[in-house]
Amino acid sequence: MSLFDDLGGRGGYLLLLVLTFALHALLIGFVLGAAAWATVRALRGGDDPIAGVSRDWLPFGLGAAITAGVAPLLLVQVLYQHRMYTATLLLSHRFMAIVPVLIAGFYLLYLGKSERVQAWNRVRRLLVHGGALAAFVFVAWTWIEEHTLASASPEVWVAHYAEGRLVHRDPVIAQRLVVWLGLAGTAYAVGTAWLGGTLAGNAGMRRLGAVGLGGLTVALGGAGALAWTYGNDVAATAGRAVVLAALAVVAAGFGFLLLAGGKLRAGRRLATAGVIVLFVAVSAIRESMRAHRVEWRGTLDGAQGLPLFLLFVVLGVVAIVWCARLVRRHLDRV
Ligand code: HEM
Repeated sequence: MSLFDDLGGRGGYLLLLVLTFALHALLIGFVLGAAAWATVRALRGGDDPIAGVSRDWLPFGLGAAITAGVAPLLLVQVLYQHRMYTATLLLSHRFMAIVPVLIAGFYLLYLGKSERVQAWNRVRRLLVHGGALAAFVFVAWTWIEEHTLASASPEVWVAHYAEGRLVHRDPVIAQRLVVWLGLAGTAYAVGTAWLGGTLAGNAGMRRLGAVGLGGLTVALGGAGALAWTYGNDVAATAGRAVVLAALAVVAAGFGFLLLAGGKLRAGRRLATAGVIVLFVAVSAIRESMRAHRVEWRGTLDGAQGLPLFLLFVVLGVVAIVWCARLVRRHLDRV
């Protein structure tokens, strides 16, 4: 069965959710990967061009990733409002902790790219970059916990509330995290190949190719564990998206191999196309699984606002393009 069969009026919302979530996940992947690279660099001491590019782009990347989280947040509420709200209320402070943690992580990113911190010793630099990485992994874990609790049965919610727990435990949380961390490696590798391709040189490209291949391997390992846990559900509900994901893995894998072999242009293009399709396919698999396991929000028929949402998407894009052109025009004054 396809994700879009038997949807009634929900198809448009679902498609938007799949696409906007894929964008959020791609940007988050870049942030997690860049923070990890900066941390490993600080741990090993010294510096390299890829670490420099990562530190420079991290604050912008995080800002873009967070902004890209808003659209799927709205769409999840349109489609699964009762579940999302229940999980958020049950996790309470545990969920809201992401706000101060993100603020601290954001600050550490700006600190980490300052010249002052570059002059600090290895331990202090490690604390700055490692602190930011830990903050983002915590936020990723929290979103997965939220998603898992929101998809759980009402009996699980009752037990959670009765025991006065703030934390939701489920083996799939760690498995999902492994998938997202692996995918982060692929998003980071392609993002950095574009942002710092010429700076990084052949040696840098080879390392990015290896990061991409490593990320694919980790993600496949996590996906295997998840498929084992979910059993036949995945093939039955998300068959076409799984095939698309498999093709995307092959394309991205070849792209990363080309990158690792020093073929920057061809490798970068193929890996980028493969990774983008992979994120969209994974997002579709994720929604297929959810649509199969949980009921829709009952009152969707009365839901309104799509035209207004689309209007603000257009206004947002126009405003962003205008800001970018403004900055470009005045770059010489900086
Ligand atoms: C560093 C910051 C963040 C990280 C690392 C992160 C990571 C993640 C991850 C890994 C998931 C997937 C959950 C799963 O499939 O189980 C997710 C989902 C999501 N995130 Fe983020 N996220 C971050 C910030 C945000 C912010 C600030 C927002 C809101 C503005 C947001 C909105 C969402 C939404 C709406 C979902 C989908 C939830 C669902 O479908 O149930 N994220 N995030």
